[in-house]
Amino acid sequence: MTLEALKQACSTCHDCRLSQKRRNVVFGEGNPASPLVLVGEGPGDEEDKTGRPFVGRSGQMLDRALADNGLSRADVYICNTVKCRAADWSTGKPQNRPPSPDEVATCRQWLVPQLEAISPWVIVCIGAPSAKNLIKKDFKITQERGKYFRCAYAKTAIATLHPSYILRQSTKEFDGGYSLLVADIHLAWTTALRLREENRG
Ligand code: URA
Repeated sequence: MTLEALKQACSTCHDCRLSQKRRNVVFGEGNPASPLVLVGEGPGDEEDKTGRPFVGRSGQMLDRALADNGLSRADVYICNTVKCRAADWSTGKPQNRPPSPDEVATCRQWLVPQLEAISPWVIVCIGAPSAKNLIKKDFKITQERGKYFRCAYAKTAIATLHPSYILRQSTKEFDGGYSLLVADIHLAWTTALRLREENRG
């Protein structure tokens, strides 16, 4: 299936409970010919509202980390582990929550063919849920970020800290790990360019 056909099919998915409260499916966007795909956790409020990945506070930080590497969204492809917002509605006011294992498993029917259609050289897993889904179940984000791992959907995968974690850790004196996010994207991008160059026919 083409990426466009996949996006179309995904937009009417009702295979898990996340579809009940969503305003928009957030399929992903960017350059499908890019050698680099970034895979986050899942849409938050802003993403659910707009149908676009990483457009809230985390997205602004991701844009800055891309820009600090001389990159923009047009250079990469950005998507998420789950395509609909995961939130706890029990108090009336929705609170974002990590997607549950069954929600992640159900949404692989979209993520896997999406990655196969793009076939990037490198995948950056943004945050632990993405790394656990695409690299290995027991991935330890603080110990194992910034390293190469085998991945079924790219030549290699690298995980990095999630901007929402960095925002929570940030203080006046500490960047919360922002410099690591920039460094991990740098490693992933230079690796992706090198792999693409080495394999030009
Ligand atoms: N956090 C994510 O993991 N993905 C988004 O699209 C937005 C915030």
